[in-house]
Amino acid sequence: MGKTYNIAVIGGDGTGPEVVAEGLKVINAAAEKFGFKLNLQDYDFGGDRYLKTGEVLPDSATNELKKHDAIFLGAIGHPDVKPGILEKGILLRLRFELDLYVNLRPVKLYPGVECPLKDKGPEHIDFVVVRENTEGLYAGAGGVLKKGTQDEIAVQESINTRKGVERCIRYAFEYCKKRNKENKLTLCGKTNVLTFAFDLWERAFYEVAREYPQIKADYAHVDAITMWFVKNPEWFDVIVTDNMFGDIITDLGAMIQGGMGIAAGGNINPTGVSMFEPIGGSAPKYKGQNIINPLAAICAGAMMLDHLGESKAAAAIEKAVMIVTGQKLKSLAAGKMGYSTTEVGDLTVKYMQDIKE
Ligand code: IPM
Ligand code: MN
Repeated sequence: MGKTYNIAVIGGDGTGPEVVAEGLKVINAAAEKFGFKLNLQDYDFGGDRYLKTGEVLPDSATNELKKHDAIFLGAIGHPDVKPGILEKGILLRLRFELDLYVNLRPVKLYPGVECPLKDKGPEHIDFVVVRENTEGLYAGAGGVLKKGTQDEIAVQESINTRKGVERCIRYAFEYCKKRNKENKLTLCGKTNVLTFAFDLWERAFYEVAREYPQIKADYAHVDAITMWFVKNPEWFDVIVTDNMFGDIITDLGAMIQGGMGIAAGGNINPTGVSMFEPIGGSAPKYKGQNIINPLAAICAGAMMLDHLGESKAAAAIEKAVMIVTGQKLKSLAAGKMGYSTTEVGDLTVKYMQDIKE
């Protein structure tokens, strides 16, 4: 008898619940094939709940979520709610309170997916960004003086603790070692200008690197990285960076892997509960039409299974996704796939079931 995993499901806003439904369809089918069980519990956090109750996230939420083995999130963001309220009140709050200190974002171009880069194919685009997820400019340090006047002063500070930086860097080295692809870890920073913050990052990086002689420790400035992502994405294996730079470069990463329809990520606490999500947002204009691409959510589901230790199931889902992108979908864009949201989920299940273990 296989294991049972308790999963908290937050469908969230816009198309979140639709893509989550397809993700669950696929991971449930994988559970059946690979002999484990998923015990799902729904949570209604999101814009609709906020508009109804005035409460963004109940104070009990973190403790409640901590009882699960993982969290599967759709998307947060509602057209009738002022930007920032839900993002800060749900997504960022969960990242802080659950100490989800790594944001893991694979950038992989699957077969058949249109890539905006000239002469680049799946053999060139396969790297992973490890983004610090609880500090930096996201920590909320700073303040405003004389607001609304000509003398207004706004300060937003980047918080970098030795502990926070080092644990993220350690995770990245371990991840790179386990991935065992090019065995190269690139620190993405800005040591030529941000001489306090990235001095700390750089020292911590090269100190930890001494414990990993098999990993090539490499460095690139963030501005140069955006250039190389476009020109030579094949240079990268694993990249580690701070919260803000990670936010920016992973959107660029998502575009070179075919867009938000396919990009997935994990908010990880290596010793606690982790949260997996498609990174594309709630896309409210496509809500309820059964045309949004669910592959990002399906890939997030595979990442979640991998994290839980069900690596065979995760690999089978990824292979099935590659068949769907390579042989079926006309495009990854909403409404242009040649299939509906639910059909893409069904196709993935079908190919996943056919995969030999
Ligand atoms: C992301 C998003 C979030 C971030 C927003 C929605 C707060 O862009 O997960 O990358 O900036 O981290
Ligand atoms: Mn982002």
